[in-house]
Amino acid sequence: MSKRTKNPNLLTLKESRAIIKSNLREMKRLEKKKREKVTEDYYTTVMKSPDNILEIEDLETCFFTDNGVVKSVNKISFDVPADSIVGLVGESGCGKSVTSLSIMQLVQAPQGQVVGGQIRFNSDQLGTNEKGEKLCYDMTKMPTLDMCRIRGKDISMIFQEPMTSLNPVFTVGYQIEEVFYLHNPEATKEQARQKAIDMLTLVGIPMPETIINYYPHQLSGGMRQRVMIAIALTGNPKLIIADEPTTALDVTIQSQILKLLKKVQKECGASVMLITHDLGVVAEMADYVVVMYAGKIVEKGTVYEIFDNPMHPYTIGIQKAKPSLASDASSELYNIPGNVPNPINIPDECLFKGRCNRRCGKCGGTYPKEIKISETHSVFCHLYDEEMGE
Ligand SMILES: Nc1ncnc2c1ncn2[C@@H]1O[C@H](COP(=O)(O)OP(=O)(O)O)[C@@H](O)[C@H]1O
Ligand code: SF4
Ligand SMILES: [Mg+2]
Repeated sequence: MSKRTKNPNLLTLKESRAIIKSNLREMKRLEKKKREKVTEDYYTTVMKSPDNILEIEDLETCFFTDNGVVKSVNKISFDVPADSIVGLVGESGCGKSVTSLSIMQLVQAPQGQVVGGQIRFNSDQLGTNEKGEKLCYDMTKMPTLDMCRIRGKDISMIFQEPMTSLNPVFTVGYQIEEVFYLHNPEATKEQARQKAIDMLTLVGIPMPETIINYYPHQLSGGMRQRVMIAIALTGNPKLIIADEPTTALDVTIQSQILKLLKKVQKECGASVMLITHDLGVVAEMADYVVVMYAGKIVEKGTVYEIFDNPMHPYTIGIQKAKPSLASDASSELYNIPGNVPNPINIPDECLFKGRCNRRCGKCGGTYPKEIKISETHSVFCHLYDEEMGE
């Protein structure tokens, strides 16, 4: 009688129970740690450069699922310099949204947890230490109550679908005023109303005195996204995180919203972290680009470095896969073969290996180290090990 071989993709009851038990233990430990009473010193640290608004270093965010631990964000590091737009690009499911939710402490707990790394936010509230270094908050350690003071004021977010982010039972004016009151509790009714009208004017809404009394369903998709931008700007944030802000809109409205975002970024002096899967949007908008794949950063640099001199086979692939008017109409659109790997129990090696047309003998080894091409440009790929004299 032939012995039945075990399917490696299926878990036995024993394995499943062991995963659930260890997940519960780990989630309990992490949630307990979050509730501990801490002093400001515990979550205050030093900026690497005072010119950055945000510095992310070795950030690790996991989801403890019944099938195993999903490493959605796997030790990523990048900076958001002041007064700039940083584009975070990559295929669906590569960890862009989880990165932004980790910054805001909005990852779905207790399953989702930031388990390592630092997110340093350059706040005006802190000065310098005795060595003259700029002090900042490490938002991975910040208690929720303190985080609420930053969220929506110093850092705000614009989501993909404005209809689901706006409250359908309140007027748009009320929703802007609510954010204003939250950070200016002593403000009068007239001041809040004036602020709402000013914000609607800033984002190019016609007849703001009338529109202020409208409910979200009375506005078009583009106008709703303008209202979302107005809400995001109400607290005068230093950083705006825009997660696929134009994906739900049609092409002409997309371009208007992107232009508006760029205009308000310049006028308000805020930095923007623009999350998108659309390379065209990044090329038009961003000063810096970070390319993510399966929870890791594979390449980062200025927009010129990434578009004029892409080095990672994945960056080259996604640029080739972008439709262009210049390409022959009869030729098939290029696509990268295969899919993003399952992020459960991923090995410490190049995760693009299965889809890469340039893989070599070294690619099965450990995860490639960061190779610096210039001060701002770096790539994680074994192809460049020799060139860098390793
Ligand atoms: N609540 C969740 N539970 C389990 N896994 C999740 C959860 N949210 C996101 N993930 C996983 O995290 C990975 C990254 O997701 P996400 O950041 O939303 O991708 P995207 O780059 O498209 O924004 C995906 O593999 C997804 O399956
Ligand atoms: S490390 Fe190897 S498999 Fe990975 S992207 Fe570079 S060449 Fe391709
Ligand atoms: Mg997303």
